[in-house]
Amino acid sequence: MSQKPILQINDLTVSFQSGKDFLPAVDGVSFELNEGEILGIVGESGSGKSVTSLAIMGLIPAPPGKVEKGEILFEGKNLTKFTERDWRKIRGNQISMIFQEPMTSLNPLFTIGNQLMEAIRLHTDLSKEEMKLRSLELLKLVGIPRAEGILKEYPHQLSGGMRQRVMIAMAMACNPRVLIADEPTTALDVTIQAQILALMQELNQKTNTSIILITHDLGVVAEICQRVVVMYAGQIVEQGDVRTILKDPHHPYTKGLLKSVPDLRVKKDRLYSIPGTVPAPGTVKNGCRFAARCQEVFGKCHTEAPELYNSEKAGHEVRCFLHTLKEESERNVGITS
Ligand SMILES: Nc1ncnc2c1ncn2[C@@H]1O[C@H](COP(=O)(O)OP(=O)(O)O)[C@@H](O)[C@H]1O
Ligand code: SF4
Ligand SMILES: [Mg+2]
Repeated sequence: MSQKPILQINDLTVSFQSGKDFLPAVDGVSFELNEGEILGIVGESGSGKSVTSLAIMGLIPAPPGKVEKGEILFEGKNLTKFTERDWRKIRGNQISMIFQEPMTSLNPLFTIGNQLMEAIRLHTDLSKEEMKLRSLELLKLVGIPRAEGILKEYPHQLSGGMRQRVMIAMAMACNPRVLIADEPTTALDVTIQAQILALMQELNQKTNTSIILITHDLGVVAEICQRVVVMYAGQIVEQGDVRTILKDPHHPYTKGLLKSVPDLRVKKDRLYSIPGTVPAPGTVKNGCRFAARCQEVFGKCHTEAPELYNSEKAGHEVRCFLHTLKEESERNVGITS
C-alpha cells in the first residue's frame, strides 16, 4: 500500500472559551492519514477525538471554540485558512463524516429517498432520474436489500443498523476521498457493530476512500485499522502500527485501554476500566496529564510534562518518561523521602 498522506494534521490546537480563558480541548496534535488506509483514533470520552474530527470538517462551533494553532493539510491545501465558501466545496464532497447516532442526523420528516437525493443534489448536477439511480446504487453499495422500498420509508421505520447504513450511503454520495466516522457503531449491538465495521472495510477496499475511525474501543481498532492514534486529555499519547501497539503497548494508558477490551472468549461479570476519569481541559497544570491515574507514575511525572518520544520501531511514538530512562534506578531521581 502507498504511504502517501492525503491528510496531514500539524500541531493542531483547538480551544473553547470558559469565562475569560480559552482552554485547549485538542492540544498540539499531529498525525497523518495515508491514502487508502483506515486510521483509528482511540481514547476515552473527553479525550478530544470529536473536536479533532470537527476541526478537520471545519465544524468547530465558534464561539465558544476556535482553532488556535496548527495546520490541516488536505492535498497540500491548509484547511484552517478556508472560508465557509471554500469549505462547502470540500465538506460532504471530498471529506465526509458520519456520526454516532444516525437518528439525530437523519430528518424524521423526510423519506430516506428525499434525504439521499438531497445529499446527491447538493454536490452534483444530475437529473432527477439519474439521482434516483445513484440513490439505488448507493443503497446497494452499503448492503441494503430491497433498496426501492427503502427509498419510500421514513427513518423511524428502519432499525439502528439500517439507519447507520443509510448515513454511510449519504456520506459516500460523492465518492469522498476521506471519510471520518465518529463512533459509528457505539449505539449498535455487537452483531450489527461487526456488520458495519465489515461494511466500512469493504468500502475502503472497493472505493479506496481513506477512513478515520474514531472509537473508545481498542477492540474495534484491532478489527479494521492499520494504524492507530491514542488520545488522552487532548494530546496524542501513543501512535503507530496497530499490530505493534496491540502486541506491545508502551504507554500505561494504552495498556489500560487494552485491558478494558471485552474478550468474547472469557466471560467476565464486569469489564476492567481504568480507575478515575479524563481531566477537563486546562486542569492539569504540571506534570504528565495521566499521572493521577497512572500505575507506573514516578518522581518527575508530577513536575514535568513528557514529550512524544520515538520508540525503537519506526513510526511508533510514546508520550511517557519511562521511554527516556536508561536504567531502572533513574525512576527514583527527584524522590526525596
Ligand atoms: N462545544 C463545546 N463547548 C465547550 N467545550 C467543549 C465543546 N466540545 C468539546 N468541548 C471540550 O472538549 C473536550 C473533548 O471533547 P470531545 O472531543 O467531544 O471528546 P471525545 O470525542 O474524545 O469524547 C470536552 O471534554 C470538553 O471539555
Ligand atoms: S510519564 Fe509517568 S505518569 Fe505519565 S504515563 Fe509515563 S509513567 Fe505514567
Ligand atoms: Mg466524541
